Amino acid sequence: MDKKKILAIQGSFRNNGITSTMLDYAVEESKKAGHEVQYIKLHDMNIGYCKGCRKCFETGECVFKDDDMTQISESIKDADVIILAAPVYWANVPAIVKNMFDRMSGTSMEETNTFPKPRLSGKRYIFLTACSTPMPFAEIFGQTSGIKRVVKEYFKTSGISCIGTVACGNTSKCRDVPNTKFNKIHRLIGKI
Ligand SMILES: Cc1cc2nc3c(=O)[nH]c(=O)nc-3n(C[C@H](O)[C@H](O)[C@H](O)COP(=O)(O)O)c2cc1C
Repeated sequence: MDKKKILAIQGSFRNNGITSTMLDYAVEESKKAGHEVQYIKLHDMNIGYCKGCRKCFETGECVFKDDDMTQISESIKDADVIILAAPVYWANVPAIVKNMFDRMSGTSMEETNTFPKPRLSGKRYIFLTACSTPMPFAEIFGQTSGIKRVVKEYFKTSGISCIGTVACGNTSKCRDVPNTKFNKIHRLIGKI
């Protein structure tokens, strides 16, 4: 088996929440499979907002070097596989995750006169999410389908292809991650 570099990104503030539980399991399984794992929790980091200066589209890197985004960007560039865990907030990613995408803009893709050119091609991702709306309504009414569209937009434009997504619904009633979801995470880690 090929040993890969995995970057696990936790986008929820809640340490014992649904997405962090899924991510912890994914990290454990990845280590068992012999991969090298780096874990970052966005809420523990100092990340300023994207100012929209657009310099990064020319240079490939954010002009602001005085916060933790420099380190996150290097970790993303260094990883073979990114496992992103983020709960559904208003049918979207939490603001801290959206801001990470914004700050990664020019590192991830180059603007051209036609389609954007990916700068992170060859990497792959797994996406873990959760929401309080039960399935299938979360998919039908844009909750999990909404967050998956946004996450796919960032990764696809960056050239990062999807290994798979795991979404838990009905989390205000079902407080534990169902075994079916752990099994799916196990299968996805096996595909790395
Ligand atoms: C600010 C906020 C916005 C939310 N928006 C949605 C939403 O649009 N749809 C939904 O089904 N659940 C929504 N939820 C519920 C969370 O997605 C749900 O509680 C999830 O399980 C939290 O994941 P965590 O335990 O990993 O933090 C929201 C929760 C918060 C705090």
